[in-house]
This record gives sequence, structure tokens and C-alpha cells, in this order.
Amino acid sequence: MQPTATSDAVKDSAFLKACRREPVPHTPVWFMRQAGRSLPEYRKVREGIPMLESCMRPELVAEITLQPVRRHGVDAAIYFSDIVVPLKAIGVDLDIRPGVGPVVERPIRSRADLAQLRDLTPEDVSYVTEAIGLLTRELGATPLIGFAGAPFTLASYLVEGGPSRNHEHTKALMYGDPQLWADLLDRLADITAAFLKVQIEAGASAVQLFDSWVGALAPADYRRSVLPASRKVFEAVSGYGVPRIHFGVGTGELLGAMGEAGADVVGVDWRVPLDEAARRVGPGKALQGNLDPAVLFSSTEAVRAKTDEILDAAAGLEGHVFNLGHGVLPTTDPDALTRLVEYVHTRTTR
Ligand code: CP3
Repeated sequence: MQPTATSDAVKDSAFLKACRREPVPHTPVWFMRQAGRSLPEYRKVREGIPMLESCMRPELVAEITLQPVRRHGVDAAIYFSDIVVPLKAIGVDLDIRPGVGPVVERPIRSRADLAQLRDLTPEDVSYVTEAIGLLTRELGATPLIGFAGAPFTLASYLVEGGPSRNHEHTKALMYGDPQLWADLLDRLADITAAFLKVQIEAGASAVQLFDSWVGALAPADYRRSVLPASRKVFEAVSGYGVPRIHFGVGTGELLGAMGEAGADVVGVDWRVPLDEAARRVGPGKALQGNLDPAVLFSSTEAVRAKTDEILDAAAGLEGHVFNLGHGVLPTTDPDALTRLVEYVHTRTTR
């Protein structure tokens, strides 16, 4: 495996230091969904361009990725894309509908349906390599985070055919046909690993695996039916030496098992305080989180008070990356995000 293109300035950034559990000049901050509808400049450049098409235009991707870095002074950029982009790239018939999310034309529910999932090659996503090339030049010392959807969360869209509250078809397949389920997750692990490798080889200096909906599972089911596939993804990219972040929502009961999947950093939502999360995850990992994104709708004083609680809970951690507990909500006031970055930096400068 080749060493990655990460420059020394990027390697010395507060974000990568915190991921590696080294001393930091200040607590680094970035926000999941920092690029997106909360920013007027995003809404302007996206006008008239469907979501999936915008993910395939390298110059537009680079511009959207840079917008929150310029505006908020966050410590890392996250590559602008979506978790379903690699599936679209291998020919799965799907679309992202505004206000709904990913919708899959022919849901995967039988062994024959697995044929929709072929291997992903770098040529399938050449626009990703191109966009990351543009970005690493523009970003200078700011690290770029690549990402992918985790096998369970991707499977939930593929099996349900779209967003789901109860994941009933997904669970029916998981409990009813464990072999087909295992084969599906294994295929998705290979596709996901290939997609992360493309991003790392192009210049991403960290990667995040989004298992947003895995909190729907009990720990025993997670261990049996999901953990092996997520572990396979982390192992496949371990040789690059870039930090691997593992995130899910509602994962309080799963944090111990997620700690075993192999990531370097575990993302935590706002339901579990970070000191308690550290006990559940176990030693040898940094944590990322965990302000409730809805708190940003309250006063500056209230945001600061909640931020203080998080920073206090994080004081004894081996490494802490400040983030929200889930993505920025589309109607968030962008100035509240800028003020939050300033506040975390000021409060934690050593
Ligand atoms: O974080 C970032 O700034 C990078 C961009 C990013 C997007 N999607 C852009 C996007 C990331 C990291 C994602 C990941 C993603 N996509 C996840 C995991 C993260 C999470 O929030 O849990 C999931 C579950 C998806 C699936 C998905 N795609 C949903 C639920 C939606 C929202 C549907 C809607 O319109 O409310 C999308 C579409 C999407 N992905 C948008 C953006 C900016 C909104 C579409 C638009 O702006 O037109």
C-alpha cells in the first residue's frame, strides 16, 4: 500500500493530532453536514443542479467543500458527496429526492437482487479523484476528511428502497435470511473499502464511516450481523495510517461493540456524555462529538453553557474532536456555527 500524500503541515494540524491522541494547541472543530443547506452560498451554487449531479462535478464539489472552511474557520473539511454516490457509480438505479433522501428503484431483497452490486473501480469515480486533487491544493494545511456510508446504513437504504423509520424490511432480511444478509453486507464492505481507498489515495487525510442508522439494533444483533462487515472496511484501509472515524446515531448501547470494529476515533451523539462514552468505548481511541444540533437554535449563552459541559466531560479524554452529535440541521443560523468554532478555540487554547 502506498503512503499517502498528506503533507507535513496537514499532519501537524490540530485535527490529525487529536485523532492520533497527541497534545493539541486547541480542541479541533468540524461539523457533520457543514457543507449544505444552512449556507446561503451553498444554496446559490446548487440552484437548478440535482444533488447527485452536483456530486459528479469536480469544480462544484471543491467549491462546496471549501465554503464552510472559509466561512467558519473549521479545523477540517469534509468532502462534499453523499453515502449513495458509490452505489450510483456502480449502476444501482437510485436518486436523491429533495426533502426525502435516497430512493432506490429496485430494492434488494433476494439473492438475485445482489447482482446489482458489482465491484467499484477507481474509474467509476474518477470525478472524486479529480475533485480531491483540486481540494488538496486549495486547502493548504487544512485536512480533508473522506467518507463513506457503513454497510448497515447502506443496506438499510437498499433493502427498504428509501428512508425508513422502523427498518422493517432490513430487519426481516437480517433475521430471516442470515446468509443472504451476510453476503449483502460483505459486498457492501468491499465497495465501501474501495471507495475509501480512492479518496485516501487522492489525498484525503482521514476517513469517516457513517453508520447513521445502526442505533436501531440491539448489541447482540450488531455484533453478530454488522460488526464483521464494518471491521472489514476498517482493516482494508488500516495500512494507510490515516485516522479512521466511526460514527452512528443512538449508539449508546453499541459503543463498546463499535470500539471493537477497529476505528481510531469514535463519534458519539448527544445522548451519552463523553466521559461515559470513553468508558464504554474503551482505551486507545479518541472521541468525536457531541453537541445536540438542535441546541444551535437557542441563545448564544445556552450554546456556550452546553459547549462548556461537553468540554468539561472531554477534559480527561485521550483525544477529543469537537463536533455535533449529528449533522447540521438545514435551518441552522450559520453565524451560530461560526461563533461556536470561535468559542471552542478560545476556551481550549493552551
Ligand atoms: O457533511 C458534509 O458536509 C458532507 C456532505 C454529506 C452529504 N451527505 C450531503 C448531502 C454527507 C457526509 C452526507 C452523508 C449522508 N447522506 C448520510 C450520513 C450522515 C447523516 O446525516 O447521518 C446519510 C444518512 C445520507 C443520506 C441522505 N442524503 C439524506 C438523509 C439526505 C437528506 C434528504 C433531505 O433533502 O433532507 C441526503 C441528501 C443530501 N446529502 C443533502 C446534502 C447536502 C441535501 C440535498 C440538497 O442539498 O439538495
